[in-house]
Amino acid sequence: MIILILKMLRQFTLGIRLQKLSVKEKLILKTKKQKTNFKNVELCDIEKIVSIEADCHISPWSKTNFLDSISAGNLFQVLKNDELITGYYIASFASDECELLNITVSKHLHRQGFGKTMISHLIKKCIERKTSNLFLEVRRSNKNAILLYEKKGFNEVGIRPNYYKTSDGNEDAILMALSL
Ligand SMILES: CC(C)(COP(=O)(O)OP(=O)(O)OC[C@H]1O[C@@H](n2cnc3c(N)ncnc32)[C@H](O)[C@@H]1OP(=O)(O)O)[C@@H](O)C(=O)NCCC(=O)NCCS
Repeated sequence: MIILILKMLRQFTLGIRLQKLSVKEKLILKTKKQKTNFKNVELCDIEKIVSIEADCHISPWSKTNFLDSISAGNLFQVLKNDELITGYYIASFASDECELLNITVSKHLHRQGFGKTMISHLIKKCIERKTSNLFLEVRRSNKNAILLYEKKGFNEVGIRPNYYKTSDGNEDAILMALSL
């Protein structure tokens, strides 16, 4: 009975989210498995990425941050459906370690599995590059992201107290790691 109620609740919240989607975004949801694929970032993607970033983060990266990341030679992958950007992630590699620097799914497309798809893609890239450990940092309050990382096998390995700014103070960064 409880499971049935939870399923109905999820359908209801999904329905509300669907009402906010553009026609093109609805189409993505229908065809996401077949049509979405990863591309290396291109300069023409940056304006849209900055706009998605501003919608999704408490302290969004600036255009300069993204451009610097390209100059630094980081892995910068964009998940696209045709030309529409669904999400993106950025990771830096050093020696046999990798750090996930940014992962974002376009706001109205959350909870459709794109976050999991991007982490799986990054793990594949790490394995190809013979990386031993994948690290990331996440705000303690970002429960959705933490659940996603745990689901993909990450464990908490440390805390940076008061690392991030909030509207009324600071909050901890949780360090998470995945051994490959
Ligand atoms: C964090 C983020 C990338 C997750 O992407 P997503 O596409 O929404 O996540 P997924 O649909 O792949 O969900 C994966 C799992 O995470 C958890 N999760 C994600 N969003 C959730 C939510 N709103 N409520 C509960 N659990 C959630 C669930 O365990 C989910 O698995 P399930 O759907 O099988 O139950 C996305 O929410 C986002 O872009 N947030 C803003 C930017 C951000 O916080 N980035 C991370 C910075 S460290």
